[in-house]
Amino acid sequence: MTSATLESPGAVAVPAPPASLLTVRSLRKRYRSGDKVLEVLRGVDFDLAPGEFVSVIGQSGSGKSTLLHLMGLLDGADAGSVHLAGRRIDDLPGRDRDRLRNTDIGMVFQAYHLLPELTALENVLAPLMVRHGLWAWCRERSEARRQATDLLKRFGLGERLHHKPRQLSGGEMQRVAIARALVGGPRLLLADEPTGNLDAESGGGILDVLAALNRSEGLSIVLVTHDASIARRADRIVRLVAGRVETA
Ligand SMILES: Nc1ncnc2c1ncn2[C@@H]1O[C@H](COP(=O)(O)OP(=O)(O)O)[C@@H](O)[C@H]1O
Ligand SMILES: [Mg+2]
Repeated sequence: MTSATLESPGAVAVPAPPASLLTVRSLRKRYRSGDKVLEVLRGVDFDLAPGEFVSVIGQSGSGKSTLLHLMGLLDGADAGSVHLAGRRIDDLPGRDRDRLRNTDIGMVFQAYHLLPELTALENVLAPLMVRHGLWAWCRERSEARRQATDLLKRFGLGERLHHKPRQLSGGEMQRVAIARALVGGPRLLLADEPTGNLDAESGGGILDVLAALNRSEGLSIVLVTHDASIARRADRIVRLVAGRVETA
């Protein structure tokens, strides 16, 4: 520590919180099939503030899932960039991308993607097992089980901990998937049509869970949906049209 810092601690610069948690710039993505080229994203700009809940709407085929997959580093863009809290993340090597998805970015999908042979609790524990690795897992296991159990109880699944996915309803499976996405403590949740396979009542329950997480914990959320009534649950709506994002 320098003497200047000792003499005037008030002068030590405190970094300002980033204005944007997630920043997407000039993102372009095209798919080729045979000799046809489909330009899906044609220069997408998008900002999500910390603690913000934003819906991305657009017609089927407008590129919503493509955009969310690029934000979640599941796929690479042809041009442009993705930044998390001011740090560029789309050009990281594969291992660092995997780590970010394990720690900072949670994702949920329409089809839940739970592992069928694992119980609800084991599905939620899976990301922590991956994070800790085998040896550390022996040490961390009981704390991890407590965390995962707490989350599942909070989502009303205290009586379903040891059920396999096939023994759960759609709404319950999606709540397990959300718990799995959150157990690592991400700052950002990306949700792709999370109510798409659910009836109105179960879907409403999932949206209540997301809205409560946003309000009570400041979880930042990007929700992709083709349904305007679902989109309205967010603070702000943007629309994907002709490969670009517009304010809706
Ligand atoms: N891997 C792929 N290869 C070729 N075309 C794709 C691929 N993924 C998506 N597409 C096409 O890109 C367009 C946008 O798809 P998608 O992002 O899934 O849209 P949305 O989620 O808005 O329905 C669609 O026309 C789709 O058929
Ligand atoms: Mg889609």
